[in-house]
Amino acid sequence: MTPFGHAPDGRTAQLYRLENSRGFRAEVTDYGATLVRLLAPDARGEFADVVLGFDRVEGYAGHDAYFGATIGRCANRIAAGRFTLDGRTYSLAQNNHPPGGPCHLHGGRRGFDRVSWSVDEGTGSESRSSIRFRFRSVDGEEGYPGNLDVEVTYGVTEANALRIEYRAAADRPTPVNLTNHSYFNLAGEGAPDALGHMLTVAASQFVPIDAGLVPKGGLAPVGGTPLDFRAAHRIGDRIDQPHEQLRHGAGYDHCFVLDRGGAGLALAATAFEPGSGRRLEVHTTEPGVQLYTANFLNGSFAGKKGHRYGRRSAFCLETEHFPDSPNRPEFPPVILRPGETFSSVTEYRFSAQ
Ligand code: BGC
Repeated sequence: MTPFGHAPDGRTAQLYRLENSRGFRAEVTDYGATLVRLLAPDARGEFADVVLGFDRVEGYAGHDAYFGATIGRCANRIAAGRFTLDGRTYSLAQNNHPPGGPCHLHGGRRGFDRVSWSVDEGTGSESRSSIRFRFRSVDGEEGYPGNLDVEVTYGVTEANALRIEYRAAADRPTPVNLTNHSYFNLAGEGAPDALGHMLTVAASQFVPIDAGLVPKGGLAPVGGTPLDFRAAHRIGDRIDQPHEQLRHGAGYDHCFVLDRGGAGLALAATAFEPGSGRRLEVHTTEPGVQLYTANFLNGSFAGKKGHRYGRRSAFCLETEHFPDSPNRPEFPPVILRPGETFSSVTEYRFSAQ
């Protein structure tokens, strides 16, 4: 554990190191329960940090790109920041302003990415492979009903996987949709773009969006569109095609509906970077994955080691329930009720060839 700078609430953020016997390593901070570094070997055994971010917590607190953070209470967009639950309408923080009008994004102005989490006793020792963060989101926070107790556990496995487990319980019915917002570049953070990665996404359908990046309603087949990643494609091959969905997203910014067979961990996506030989497989218990190709990064600020992260210099694979679910009865439900436990697992498995 090492000090990582000062969080806006005055607390000293801490950085915790998780590693396995092969040198695969994750570093996480209690501010935002954020993944800060992830060191994975290439085909020659050389390690690189494959996630974008900052060298100190002040960077995370000062920008709104959500690098590596835990996102909640509801990841992704909620139309007009409003939903009705059990006959009552709730107004959430409207913290995102796309062309279609303001909406709620990633939990609001002070979402789970912008709070200091506590660390479970017993998971804070020097040499460890996992750590558990806890946070209580109080009734009314960002407009959400009920107190919500959340746990996020990060672990590294001997097989070079980063495993993230989420649990939550509430004292009133509330929507919950948790994810991690890491930006990956398998050539190493700071590489100029991520367009050469070969990507597959195990989805036959996606959630179409309107010009405000909010779901239009229903699902659409990927077949015949530039969103078909059932067979591997370079991320950059079709990203600028004149397709309505790519125009709305300014590139890929879409939730894919995973072709999963039953419950449990299922393969969501794979990414392979030919230069380094690094390969990432994402497995999840969630029904969807948002592919976001960092279309809104523009190199305007300095990240780790002074790197300026340009447009499309990384990709996010945010495992989650679908956007705007509280307003979409046709989507898998996100309402957590008292007495129930929300739980979800995502694994990022690394290899090289
Ligand atoms: C969203 C983007 C948004 C970004 C913010 C992503 O998860 O899909 O639309 O701009 O988060 O960093």
